[in-house]
Amino acid sequence: MDTERNAEFLEAIKQKLNPQRLHHSLCVAESARELAVQYGADPEKAYTAGLVHDIMKNTPPDDMLKFFCDNGIMLTKTQRQSPKTWHAVAGEAYLRSRLHVTDEDILTAVRYHTTGRADMTCLEKVVFIADFVSADRDYPEVEHMRATAKRSLEEAIVEGLQFTIAELVSAGALVDPDSIDAYNDAVLVVREKAEEK
Ligand SMILES: [Fe+2]
Ligand SMILES: [Fe+2]
Repeated sequence: MDTERNAEFLEAIKQKLNPQRLHHSLCVAESARELAVQYGADPEKAYTAGLVHDIMKNTPPDDMLKFFCDNGIMLTKTQRQSPKTWHAVAGEAYLRSRLHVTDEDILTAVRYHTTGRADMTCLEKVVFIADFVSADRDYPEVEHMRATAKRSLEEAIVEGLQFTIAELVSAGALVDPDSIDAYNDAVLVVREKAEEK
């Protein structure tokens, strides 16, 4: 993605995000680029996907529901009950329809950055983990997570989803089946790698 396009995306997120979310997006872009270099995804696509991944995060839920309706997007039963996942679905659709992004690698990285999914691409994994370890993050286990992400993307996905899924379950919330798929896939990769050793 060229610099001119990134400048356009930066302008778009400046319009749509509050200062804190804008800062987070810039941090995720940097983190995603670093992880992409390490793990063999396209660093520039990673930067762009990181920059725009939360483009709809500050959009009010009612506006997002209207956006889904206007764009013919049907949410699943689980998605309807999980408003925190809406911005990823809306983000992909907004990038496609309003900002004319056609790069499917970037679009799916945005689409699956909250839930993950089965058979994630390397770029999807990179953006998913960049969102956990970016410089602005300060949850108690973040340093541990950063160390894991430096060692293995899949181990980081397992840890990230253990945390996310446990939180959802203990709150009695629904867990998106895509997250379970992503978790299972990552566990299998980690086990296979351990057996190779
Ligand atoms: Fe997000
Ligand atoms: Fe994010």
